[in-house]
Order: sequence, then C-alpha cells, then structure tokens
Amino acid sequence: MSDVLLEVSGLQTGYGDLTVVRDVSLTVRQGEITVLLGRNGAGKTTTLRAITGLNRVQGGTVSYLGGALTEAAHKRVARGISYVQEGKKVFHELTIEQNLILGGFSRGVGKRELISAAEEIYQLFPILGSKRALAAASMSGGQQQMLAIGQALMAKPKLLILDEPSQGLAPVIVKEVMERVHELKGTGLGILLVEQAVQDSVAIADEVTVVEMGRTVLSGSARDVSVDDLQQAYFGKAS
Ligand SMILES: Nc1ncnc2c1ncn2[C@@H]1O[C@H](COP(=O)(O)OP(=O)(O)O)[C@@H](O)[C@H]1O
Ligand SMILES: [Mg+2]
Repeated sequence: MSDVLLEVSGLQTGYGDLTVVRDVSLTVRQGEITVLLGRNGAGKTTTLRAITGLNRVQGGTVSYLGGALTEAAHKRVARGISYVQEGKKVFHELTIEQNLILGGFSRGVGKRELISAAEEIYQLFPILGSKRALAAASMSGGQQQMLAIGQALMAKPKLLILDEPSQGLAPVIVKEVMERVHELKGTGLGILLVEQAVQDSVAIADEVTVVEMGRTVLSGSARDVSVDDLQQAYFGKAS
C-alpha cells in the first residue's frame, strides 16, 4: 500500500551481541495509529530503539517510505522520525516555549520560524499556549507529557513514536493524553504508540501489534481485535 510509512518485518535486535527481539513485525500507515502492546520486558522499547537507530538491527528489515532505514539516529530525525522516549523528562527550569524551541533545533531553521512552529503546537495543545512563559516545572505530569509530545512535533515529523506516554499518570489523565494523541492523526502523521493502558490505547488505534518475549504474537486491525484475542496474546491459552 502506498500510504505505508513504516514497515518492520521479522526484526531481530538487542544490545551488543545479545538478542532480545527475535521476530517482530508491524506496520504504521500515514494518518493512522499503530499500538504496540506487551508485558514488561517483552521487547517494546528495544524495538523502538532499533527503528530510531539507537540499537543495531541484527536481522529482518525496517523500511521507511519504501526504502531501507540505515542512517544514524540523528539523521532519522531529519528524515521525519521523532521519538519520545519512555519516562521522557522536559527541562523543568526552562519555559514551555523554550522547551518547544529546543525540540525544533534539529531542523536548522531560524528562531522566528521556530516561534511560529510553536504557535502550531499551541493550537494542538492550548494548555501549552496559555502557559508558554511559565517554567515547565509548573505544569502537571500530564501537561508535561503533552509538552514532551509537542517538543517532538517541533521537528515536523512524518512518523511520531511514543513510548508509554501515559506512564505514571492518573487514569483520567491517561484518557486525556490518549484523546490528544488521537487528535494528532488529523494532521496526517503516522503514530507508533507503545502503551500499558491497553483499553485506552486500543480505543484510539487503527492497528494493534502484541509482542511477547521478543516476538509478534498478534497483529491486526484494531476493529478486528477482541478483548479475548488480547487476553490470549498476553496470558496464553490458560486464561
Ligand atoms: N541496556 C540493556 N542491556 C541488556 N538488556 C536489556 C537492556 N535494556 C533492556 N534489556 C532487556 O531486553 C528485554 C526487553 O526490554 P524492553 O525492550 O525494555 O521491554 P519493554 O519495553 O517491552 O518493557 C528485557 O529482557 C530487558 O531486560
Ligand atoms: Mg519499555
């Protein structure tokens, strides 16, 4: 399909010579959300690190916009891949606006252009606009997570990769973060979302992939994946 942004097929990767991801496949399409689920230690973050160039691909293929992805990590940002790492912290002592501007530095454009890009982020996340001159430390955990996402968007990505953005947030805030992520689809972005909040993330997903011990065990359209399928993928036949 021509609208495929990212295609991971039979990925094998890990740390140095150690292999922890043995056979992961997933697809992210333009304007869609693919949710990557799995228990702690299943290999989700390691998969993201291979896609973003932080870990070496040991086997299988990672293709982006129809070609193999081989550049160094920082060049992948310039090609439109933005990554918000697990537990990502914003700069507490800097203002919201300063944090956003830092996020756009990789584009190598002038400050005026970055300030106007920040305006676009304020339209997506009005709370950031109303607090733009305040220190990031003054915001709640959920708002700081939106700032981290806003920072990643400042690089003008085609593919946004989010590793557990709801981590540590109260359930009602998790729902809000998921709603905001869902709204981003309207901008044409492809989103690869790793989550522990299974129901809230599947609710906004187009595609779902479940990994277990470094292997894709379930993959399909979010419409077709039932709670039973997910339970089976997570806990095996016994449940
Ligand atoms: N820096 C590292 N060096 C060696 N092994 C690691 C490292 N980071 C994670 N692992 C191992 O890789 C496996 C997958 O971890 P990870 O991808 O972080 O899982 P998840 O994000 O799904 O919770 C785990 O067994 C973990 O212990
Ligand atoms: Mg992880």
